[in-house]
Amino acid sequence: MRIGVLASGGGSNLQALIDHFRLVSSGRGAVAFVASNREDAGALVRARDAGIRAATVASPGDGDALLGLLRDAGVELVVLAGYLKHVPLAVVRAYHGRMLNVHPALLPSFGGAGMFGTRVHAAVIAHGAALTGVTVHFVNEEFDRGAIVAQWPVAVREDDSAETLAARVLRTEHRLLPLCVEGVAAGEITLGDDGRVHGVPDRLRPDFLDLLR
Ligand code: GRF
Repeated sequence: MRIGVLASGGGSNLQALIDHFRLVSSGRGAVAFVASNREDAGALVRARDAGIRAATVASPGDGDALLGLLRDAGVELVVLAGYLKHVPLAVVRAYHGRMLNVHPALLPSFGGAGMFGTRVHAAVIAHGAALTGVTVHFVNEEFDRGAIVAQWPVAVREDDSAETLAARVLRTEHRLLPLCVEGVAAGEITLGDDGRVHGVPDRLRPDFLDLLR
């Protein structure tokens, strides 16, 4: 499946996807297109270094333009990897069940408008949460509220700052996102007509109790 990635930042999640489909799971998908709303985004540099078609989204709010970019590149599955713009409805609808987002917290907690970057982790720490984590979900019309594919826990440490916590959560994103994208690209993980996610393997929904010692 041809994967298109939208990113606004440095692109470490994009890099994790590129590496995963080139080195770990080459037969089940490939990052074929990268776009950013910022022409100076590190994600575009990573794409070009990897020989992947890259573009700047001049007007992120223009659904027809974005849809044209994705379709011209033959994108079948869209991944929002640190994309900070709202995806126009026309694009969300065109890619229903074929658009994923990664969020650096356990949605629905610490999500929604304004919850991105270190603000998320600062809020987690301010609330004294013992556990945060990563959420990968299908994108629907409500920001950060699409059907959840997988979540993975990250413990909050007593001496954590928003930055140290962000770094551990980001490393977890790099591991969880590619596995979720691979499952959807391979047709194993699907968004059913019932609005629920089907086919998530046990390794992405383990019995965490087994890890409690
Ligand atoms: C990070 O803050 C990550 O938690 C979130 O968006 C940002 C993306 O970072 N998903 P990068 O551009 O993938 O390095």
